[in-house]
Amino acid sequence: DADTDLLIVGSGFFGLTIAERAATQLGLKATIIERRGHIGGNAYSEIDPETGIEYHKYGAHLFHTSNERVWEYVNQFTSFTNYQHRVYATHNGEVFPLPINLGTVNQFFRAAYGPDEARALIAEQAQELGGKEPENLEEKAISLIGRPLYEAFIKGYTAKQWQTAPTKLSPEIITRLPVRYTYDNHYFKDTHEGLPVDGYTPWLERMADHPNIEVRLNTDFFDESQPLNKTAMAGKVPIVYTGPIDRYFDHTLGALSWRTLDFEKEVKPTGDFQGCAVMNYSDEDVPFTRIHEFRHFHPERDYQTEKTLIMREYSRFAGGGDEPYYPVNTPEDREKLEGYRKLAEAEPNVLFGGRLGTYKYLDMHMAIGSALSRFDNVVRGWFA
Ligand code: FDA
Repeated sequence: DADTDLLIVGSGFFGLTIAERAATQLGLKATIIERRGHIGGNAYSEIDPETGIEYHKYGAHLFHTSNERVWEYVNQFTSFTNYQHRVYATHNGEVFPLPINLGTVNQFFRAAYGPDEARALIAEQAQELGGKEPENLEEKAISLIGRPLYEAFIKGYTAKQWQTAPTKLSPEIITRLPVRYTYDNHYFKDTHEGLPVDGYTPWLERMADHPNIEVRLNTDFFDESQPLNKTAMAGKVPIVYTGPIDRYFDHTLGALSWRTLDFEKEVKPTGDFQGCAVMNYSDEDVPFTRIHEFRHFHPERDYQTEKTLIMREYSRFAGGGDEPYYPVNTPEDREKLEGYRKLAEAEPNVLFGGRLGTYKYLDMHMAIGSALSRFDNVVRGWFA
C-alpha cells in the first residue's frame, strides 16, 4: 500500500505546499493523509447552505503578505480580490475604530487632538507606574498606552481571550501596543492583501490537483488500523508531519498547552447585521470576543439580501478533545518544547512543520513561506 515516495501528515497550507513542490519540482509521488473529512486545515471554508455565503469554518482568514516569493507562489493557484481588512470595537454601547488610532483617541476623549497633542496625552497617561518594571500584563499595557485606553479596549478583551485577569497574566504576552497617530485604520501593513476570488477551498484543492498527489481524508496517522500509520511507515519513506509535535512523541514530556475557540453560527433575517466584517466586543460582560459577518469579506459578490450569516467567537483553554488554535506558551511549555525539539532532531527522516508541528502561531503566508524554504533545505536533500 505504501506506493509513495513521501508521506505527508496534514493537508493544511504547510503540507499542501510540500506536496505540490515535491510533485511538480521533483516528480515525486506524495500521499497526504488528513484526519478531518476535508482538505485545507484551518484555512478551509465552505458555503453556508441557508444563505449561500462562504464562511471560514475555523475562524476568519485574511490573506496578507510582504513576502514576494510567497505572493508569486500563491498566485499560481488563485487570484485575489482587493479586500482590505478593517475592524471595529463595541465598548460601553459605542463603536470605535481599531487598531487604536487618532479617530479612536478623539472619539474616546471627546476631543479634536492633532497627532502631537494625542501623542503627548498618551505618553503622559503611560507614566502612571513611574519607572517601575511591569510585573503583569495590566501594568505592561498601562506603561504602553495609559490606563483609560487600556481599560476600554484591552482589559476586558484580554480577560475573555485568556479566561484570566490581566493582573495574573505574564507581561511578555504583549511586547507592543501600537497607537496610530493618524486616522488610518487599515488593519494590515503588508504589500499584498486580498481574499481568494472564488474562495479558500478551490485554492486549496488546486494545490493538490496533480496526478502525483493523493489525498486520503478521514485518515489519522496514529490510527493503527489504517495502513499508513506511524508504526507501519517508520523508516520506510520520509515523512512530513504537520500534526501536534507532542502527540507524535506520545506526550512523553507532557502536553503542550493551547487555547481553543468556540464558534456559534446564526442566520439573521436582514441583508446586513453589523455593517462590517469583524466587530470586537471589548467589555467583559459580553461573553464572546467578536462577531464575524462573512458577507462583508466579499462585497463584490452577488449575495442575497434577505438573510445574513454571523458567527460569534468565544475563547477558552483547550482540553483534550478540543482543536488547538493558539499556543499558550508558558515557561513550562517552552521547556517541554525544547525537549520535543531534541527528540525531533533524532528523527532525520521526519520533518516537523507547520503551526502544530512547531508549536508556533503562523499566519498563512508564514506557513507557506516556511514550507517553501524547508522544501529546499530538507526535502530536496532527502532525494538528492
Ligand atoms: P493546519 O492546522 O492548517 O493544518 C494541519 C492539518 O493537519 C489539519 O488539517 C489537521 O487535521 C491535520 N492533522 C493533525 N494531526 C493529524 C493526524 N494525526 N493525522 C492526520 N492529519 C492530522 N492566518 C492568516 O494568514 N490570516 C488570518 O486571518 C488567520 N486567521 C486565523 C484564525 C484562527 C482562529 C486560527 C487558529 C488561525 C488563523 N490563521 C490565519 C492561521 C492559519 O490558519 C495557519 O497559518 C494555517 O492553518 C497553517 O497551516 P498548517 O498547515 O501549518 O496547519
